[in-house]
Amino acid sequence: MNSNNLLLAVESSCDETAFSLYNIETEEVLFSLIHSQINIHEKNGGVIPDLAAHYHYHLIYPLLLDFLLQSQKTLSEISYFAATNGPGLPGALLIGYTFMKGIAWGLKRPFLGINHLTGHIYAPFLNNKNIPFPHLCLSVSGGHTSVYMVDNFLSYQCLGSTRDDAAGECFDKIAKLLNLPYPGGKYIEALANNKELKNIRKYSISVLDDGSISFSGLKTAVLYDIINSGYYNSIEKKIKIDTPQSFITEVAVSVQYVINQMLKYFVSFFVKKSPNIKGITLTGGVACNGLLQKEISEFAALHDIHFFSTEKKYCCDNADMIAFVAAKKIQANRDQEKIYTEGIFS
Ligand code: KG4
Ligand code: ZN
Repeated sequence: MNSNNLLLAVESSCDETAFSLYNIETEEVLFSLIHSQINIHEKNGGVIPDLAAHYHYHLIYPLLLDFLLQSQKTLSEISYFAATNGPGLPGALLIGYTFMKGIAWGLKRPFLGINHLTGHIYAPFLNNKNIPFPHLCLSVSGGHTSVYMVDNFLSYQCLGSTRDDAAGECFDKIAKLLNLPYPGGKYIEALANNKELKNIRKYSISVLDDGSISFSGLKTAVLYDIINSGYYNSIEKKIKIDTPQSFITEVAVSVQYVINQMLKYFVSFFVKKSPNIKGITLTGGVACNGLLQKEISEFAALHDIHFFSTEKKYCCDNADMIAFVAAKKIQANRDQEKIYTEGIFS
């Protein structure tokens, strides 16, 4: 294999330290590794930024050694290096970014900083090679909830975003109230799945005329529901441990239903304004949610639009999506015959 085509990317914006080895010519992930800190943060009910940075710092070098051993590559065989440059937790980002930039600088190879949200937008391409342009992308994660018009590779615009909390953040905050582990979305889904109750707790859907949505009210609605039902432990600031499971399940079902309805409204608002789109993609950690995938794919089918889901392993934070975007940038720069100076594109 021509080693000029090898790219190594790192992602460290939150609580995952991930590496990806990517072939720019064949456009395929050759090897990928994700180390999650979930077992450290779940006890705290969420990610503590300084703790996340501390673990990235201690793990990143041994993880890279392990990665190289498993992929049977050496750093000198790799021609390009990339790292997430934001948005995310500053301390966590800094570890991955400076680590990878240092390696690139030492080897005198090109280095690219890649936006994390751009990574999520193009992650659906990792398991669907032929998504047509233009398409709408619903990107739903723990930090962001937005709809984008994606015109081409490296060309997109944000059409709308949540007014306050992200959908994943809302799942996580409500899960914490319900005494469920972090990350909450997965545990709420596990409780809610296969229950036909829908919005039995009657939480209202908060959507605005300009298409934007707001999730912060839902957390407050759940809090007052727990208080009014007599299940709130005001000292621990969460649900009492002897709360009947049936109540917790009802809350989980209703929360999942309302969040998914709001996301469906959100995407439908922009679909109506974009008659020329050729598809809808769904990406980000919350896109792991089976009911959300079903809702958006049924909505797309109803409007005769192709729907492209993202494989679970590419929904949550990973370095493959960072490598994919970096590779597109390298290809574009090669086409324009740009040169590299001091390890960075000129
Ligand atoms: O994309 P991601 O890994 O990290 C960010 O960039 O934020 O997304 C993490 C978010 C968390 O808030 C988590 O609760 C949510 O994705 N999530 C889910 C599910 N799995 C993860 N939300 C709903 N249903 C799921 N199955
Ligand atoms: Zn993310």
